[in-house]
Amino acid sequence: MKNPLLLAGAVGLLAGAVAALVLVFAPELGTPPGAGTTTGKALIGGPFSLEDATGKRVTEKDFAGRPMLIYFGFTNCPDICPAGLQVIAAALDKLGPKADGLTPIFVTLDPERDTPKVIGEYVKSFNPRIVGLSGSTEDIAAVAKAYRVYFKKVADANSTTGDYSVDHSAYMYLMSPTGEFIKHFPHTVNVDQLADELAKAL
Ligand code: NI
Repeated sequence: MKNPLLLAGAVGLLAGAVAALVLVFAPELGTPPGAGTTTGKALIGGPFSLEDATGKRVTEKDFAGRPMLIYFGFTNCPDICPAGLQVIAAALDKLGPKADGLTPIFVTLDPERDTPKVIGEYVKSFNPRIVGLSGSTEDIAAVAKAYRVYFKKVADANSTTGDYSVDHSAYMYLMSPTGEFIKHFPHTVNVDQLADELAKAL
């Protein structure tokens, strides 16, 4: 094509098509199977055993009786996790005292660096209501599996000291007071929309 604008348009369309294909065909990105369906029971969630900021063992039973918004990531995440946590924090602020009726949880996918204390302090910097959870490598693998969360440790190519990052899917899962999956949101969800959906679950 001689017209550079046409060429740019074609390249853009192609990129869009590739992105759409990746979204449709990349289960490793963690799109929850069955999410968004209104019938049947989505196979997301279930029992877990983790550690809170004080190192105390906690399970899903400790959070039963209230809706739970559960999100996964790691404290060294440069952008996606902080962006999602900021949205959660803003939605909680918008709900005000009503937010006491639900439990927002951030589970680390990097338990080696994110000890219970580290994750606990990290989440408090966003909003004191958010509960940070860590655990053993096995604990984290189990909860990630239950929530269909993809994560993978990747070496930082520029590091000489063994630094690494963690690739991961970035969905927030809204669970009912009895632990049933209600809905999931991308980390880019709009604050008002998230606050509205949380209010509905309360
Ligand atoms: Ni992240």
